[in-house]
Amino acid sequence: MSQVSDAATEATARAANAPLIQVKNASRSFRLGSETVYAVRNVNLDIHRNRFVTLVGRSGSGKTTLLNLLAGLDHPNEGEVLFEDRDLAKFSERDMIHLRRNRVGVVFQSFALLPLLSAYENVELPLRIAGVSARERGRRTDEVLEMVGLTRRARHRPFELSGGEQQRISIARAVAIQPDIILADEPTGELDSTNASNIFGLFQQMSRDRGMTVVATTHDRTLLDMADEIYEISDGVLSQRAGANEDPETLFMRPDE
Ligand SMILES: Nc1ncnc2c1ncn2[C@@H]1O[C@H](COP(=O)(O)OP(=O)(O)OP(=O)(O)O)[C@@H](O)[C@H]1O
Ligand SMILES: [Mg+2]
Repeated sequence: MSQVSDAATEATARAANAPLIQVKNASRSFRLGSETVYAVRNVNLDIHRNRFVTLVGRSGSGKTTLLNLLAGLDHPNEGEVLFEDRDLAKFSERDMIHLRRNRVGVVFQSFALLPLLSAYENVELPLRIAGVSARERGRRTDEVLEMVGLTRRARHRPFELSGGEQQRISIARAVAIQPDIILADEPTGELDSTNASNIFGLFQQMSRDRGMTVVATTHDRTLLDMADEIYEISDGVLSQRAGANEDPETLFMRPDE
């Protein structure tokens, strides 16, 4: 019996150490008339669990395109993106719905809040759709609104909120579903430096204490030190830089490289 349970424990431990998302030789190009734009070029990237990863790059460098590939919202023309070892391009519609409702929280660069709903309702709606009980919905919605400092704006509709407040609501909405991973596209683009570092602090805490993985893109280099791993993208080409919590000794000595 102990052999069976040992094997099971080992399999669980292996799964916990395996990357949540793996990008393998992925390229994404767009054809515009006779021209081909390479937004992501031959990218290899492992996203490990409980890590806070940032992706930095200039405007047009390919950040949103790569994040969309990680979310399964778009697929590479070449290569593949695996979520728990399964090719996202082969997910059925049902699998994708499950992924979006329960496992992957996306913070869009454009916020994507529903204009007719209040801040509170925008956060609560995905929980309703995911079938979370009324009591738990109320608890979580209150909690995440407080986390982003917007309890007092709960009844406001998006147009009654500033850009930064809308941005924080869209972050709260992604956190509330308690996903395995949050993919956040320029989540601090509209925020002042204090709010921006609060949001990055929140991501740090989510990855350390709540078992979440966070990938956030940013233009803001002052925030990078808060991440465990930093990647830079330039013209669609990805490279890694040492993160604050990355041991530089091991960074260039990964066994799989
Ligand atoms: N649907 C599309 N059709 C054609 N070209 C596209 C498409 N999406 C992105 N691109 C091009 O791919 C490149 C990367 O775009 P992407 O949106 O990923 O950049 P980004 O790093 O997110 O920029 P920003 O910081 O401004 O948000 C750009 O040159 C862009 O014009
Ligand atoms: Mg972008």
